[in-house]
Amino acid sequence: METNQTKNAPTNVVGKPMDRVDGPAKVTGAARYSAEISVPGTVYGVLKTSTIAKGRITSIDTTRAAKEPGILNIFTHQNLPKPAKTPKQVEKWRAAQSYLPMQDDQVQYAGQPVALVVAATLEAATQAAALIQVTYQAEAPIDSFHDPKAELFDPQKIQQGKKDSHVVRGNPQQAYDGAAIKHEATYVHAINHHSPMEPAATLAVWEGADKLTVYESSQNVTMHQGALADLLGMPREQIRVVTKYIGGGFGCKGSFWPHTILTVLAAKAVNRPVKLVLTRQQMFTGVGHREDQEQTLKMGATADGKLVSLVHTKRATTSPWDNYTESNGKILDMLYACPNYSTTYELARANVMTSVWMRAPGEAPGSFALESSLDDVANQLGIDPLEIRLRNYADHDYSNNKPWSSKSLKQCYTRGAELFGWDKRNAKPGQNRKGRVLVGHGMATASYPVHSSQGTARVRLFADGHAVVEAGATDLGTGTYTVMTQVSADALGLPPEKIRFELGDTRLPTAPGSGGSVAAGTVASSIMAAAEDVWDKVVKMAVADKKSPLYKAKPADVKVELGRMFLIKDPKKGETLLATLGRSGQPDIEGSGTGKYGAGYEEKNFGQNGADENNDKKEKVSGGHSMHSFGAHFCEVEVDPDLGTVRITRWVGVHGVGTVLNLKTATSQMTGGAIYGIGAALMEDTFRDPNYARYTNADLAGYHVPVNADIPDIKVEFVPETDPYINYLGVKGIGELGMVGVAAAVGNAIFNATGRRMRSLPITPDKVL
Ligand code: MOS
Repeated sequence: METNQTKNAPTNVVGKPMDRVDGPAKVTGAARYSAEISVPGTVYGVLKTSTIAKGRITSIDTTRAAKEPGILNIFTHQNLPKPAKTPKQVEKWRAAQSYLPMQDDQVQYAGQPVALVVAATLEAATQAAALIQVTYQAEAPIDSFHDPKAELFDPQKIQQGKKDSHVVRGNPQQAYDGAAIKHEATYVHAINHHSPMEPAATLAVWEGADKLTVYESSQNVTMHQGALADLLGMPREQIRVVTKYIGGGFGCKGSFWPHTILTVLAAKAVNRPVKLVLTRQQMFTGVGHREDQEQTLKMGATADGKLVSLVHTKRATTSPWDNYTESNGKILDMLYACPNYSTTYELARANVMTSVWMRAPGEAPGSFALESSLDDVANQLGIDPLEIRLRNYADHDYSNNKPWSSKSLKQCYTRGAELFGWDKRNAKPGQNRKGRVLVGHGMATASYPVHSSQGTARVRLFADGHAVVEAGATDLGTGTYTVMTQVSADALGLPPEKIRFELGDTRLPTAPGSGGSVAAGTVASSIMAAAEDVWDKVVKMAVADKKSPLYKAKPADVKVELGRMFLIKDPKKGETLLATLGRSGQPDIEGSGTGKYGAGYEEKNFGQNGADENNDKKEKVSGGHSMHSFGAHFCEVEVDPDLGTVRITRWVGVHGVGTVLNLKTATSQMTGGAIYGIGAALMEDTFRDPNYARYTNADLAGYHVPVNADIPDIKVEFVPETDPYINYLGVKGIGELGMVGVAAAVGNAIFNATGRRMRSLPITPDKVL
């Protein structure tokens, strides 16, 4: 049988705007989210968190709290059993924060857990937590990198040892100094918090001392299992992590946070299943955040608007222990044809928990700086913003000199401009009025990389015409269940209602988490690899089966498409997988496979420096391709010149993302991306009291996110795009792309409306006036 024969194979349900397979379960309440799961004997945990940001605990008085009815235990650093290892002692800690609270009397950030009450009811635990009296010896905390006490340092590596804090290409400073046009600006990004509808939740269930099941709101069950195994000193196979449904995560559920292990330790100590759900307020100090940051971008250009240099620096706040910072520079390095580039990161330690990836980490704030400065330069030179982007169009990736695996950005620009009516835009800022309000139009480019990833899946095809497909992936709510049902249906030639796709359990084959936009592409690849294994087995049965039209054929001469096997040379000769399986008397057949995605897939199929089979000349492609999705956002705003309020009145987003697995869920995802981009652009911000290093608005009353009334008509389209290098199906992944460039598109539209340049997010009325 040919390998990888599915590439560009016909599809039937893939791509269709199919309704969510989990929709009915969700709207009827049948779907159980982690916090809704109970097992017999479940009791409730509630965290008490520190009011100071730095210092030590001098005493904890639990006398009054212990008198509440049904208290099982009140844990503090004095009586909570210690884990086998703390994150610091784990050789390769896989999560963001390496500091575990409640190990000693130290307090390092406000909102740090200092006690954990376990009680028979949530109400009793909540009340008892309020009655615990903690006294502290407080020290003056450091609030942020703005704090005069803070010291900026070079982190060397900015993200789990992966990314360099200095990247230089060409001769950026010299090129900038010699440029005809020099533009320098500083951009501020507020702290953003992950506020998914479903807060973080853990239900820890021990069976004896060596079997643990954790129901966790996790974007990555394998990561949670591995982190727990490390901390508990237990083999992975004794720990099961289950996440069947997630109510959003934005990245925070893709890392491991203290509440999970604290709950697990408490459950073991009280010998009962313990459920703990972070309160909405605790979500602001319990699961990371997008760090506060400032970027300075020097942009050098020719007089006709061609970029010659980008010199980028970033300053941000990090925790007392870790060096995570978003890699904003990545997108500056590759988005345009710019020969000279550098980025430098500096961090300062402050009393704040470790920040973490959130909604297009790096690309979202990085594109705000790049796309705003470019708009400025365009305006300065009297070049249309769309035109300046075309003049700087990168026909290959300048960051690594590789050809693109595919790129449809020009089509996105053209189609977006057409849908939006860009040609009707008045280029002169502040000229366009609708009654009292100023109207403005802005645009920006979007891009997100295809990260390399791999995973496994299992496919079990039953002779009665249904199939069970399994992969330990997760569904953030964006549609993994649905799109993988579609992929499975086409792989086996079955209607989607005959597929049961299972995910969210470490007992299933290991799959990547939902993060970095890799889930759809990787899991789809794995399913195709597992389906191929099934095809192989059934083809072997067919060629040995006298009753099969394929009897005595060579397996290598047989191809499978949409569940039907046939002779490549005589496609009429063949039959379905089910026909062969049915005659065999075997009730079912199982296959498994590992699917690669991104650069990994390319290496597997084309070799590291292999011939490019899609290239007629069969040239060597050195090191393969650069893989990115691209898109363009177009935004219309109305600005009230007296109040400074900004209303977004129209939005168009056109994207090239390879194969769209489900037009409906993909459109929803890109729409959602624009919406949370608008949240970061106009609303999302916490304020820390610099004296206490505490958030003053850590709840959804004070931390604003867009509601329906804030969101205009959003038009999303995908341009047709075929990419042979990404994975079996040419899927690029769309989890984060929709947000990239959104803040700049908004700021650029506000500039067009008012003539005022917005360089600080969120763009609140005080900044507009
Ligand atoms: Mo995403 S921020 O990679 O969950």
